Amino acid sequence: MDEQLRVTDCERCGGLVDLRSRIVNGVGPTDADLLFVGEAPGAQEDQEGEPFVGRSGDVLDEALRDAGLARPDVRITNCVRCRPPENRDPTSEELENCRGYLETEIDRVDPEVIVTLGKVPSEHLLERDVAVTSEAGELFDAQVAGETRRVLVSVHPAATLYDRSQEATFAATIERAGEFTDGGDQARLGEF
Ligand code: URA
Repeated sequence: MDEQLRVTDCERCGGLVDLRSRIVNGVGPTDADLLFVGEAPGAQEDQEGEPFVGRSGDVLDEALRDAGLARPDVRITNCVRCRPPENRDPTSEELENCRGYLETEIDRVDPEVIVTLGKVPSEHLLERDVAVTSEAGELFDAQVAGETRRVLVSVHPAATLYDRSQEATFAATIERAGEFTDGGDQARLGEF
């Protein structure tokens, strides 16, 4: 089933195709309770072919551990699967070109919660302006491909590297996400 979620030969974005080393697909179980969605691969992700393996990934992994979660238990993907040059934000056209792949991933994984890491994925899925710092840790409903999906807004892990005051916000958000996994408080509530 993971194979069905792998994009292997897309050439829709002229500005990305020639510069990328590879397409960076999502990783993690295809039946995960939590789906983390970032913006786009950075340099290290482009080299290794896996989302969040650079410094941001270290921050994410640590927060997951602190919340009693493990990286292999969650699914991690990006709005855009090819690295934008100079780590610029993806354009709205690039986001649109890649949208179908993300929608297919969300549909197949059918997570309890989608955690949007930073402004770009939060605004992409909620389809509105998002003040990430003040809305981090809050849950919202989003319409994705005709389904209502629960979205938990998070600051980007990299934000904690240049603004230490974001560390607690990020940690609390990941902790909240953990409540929706098997054994978490919200998951248990669903049993009653
Ligand atoms: N930042 C992102 O948004 N995605 C990655 O995969 C890595 C860093």
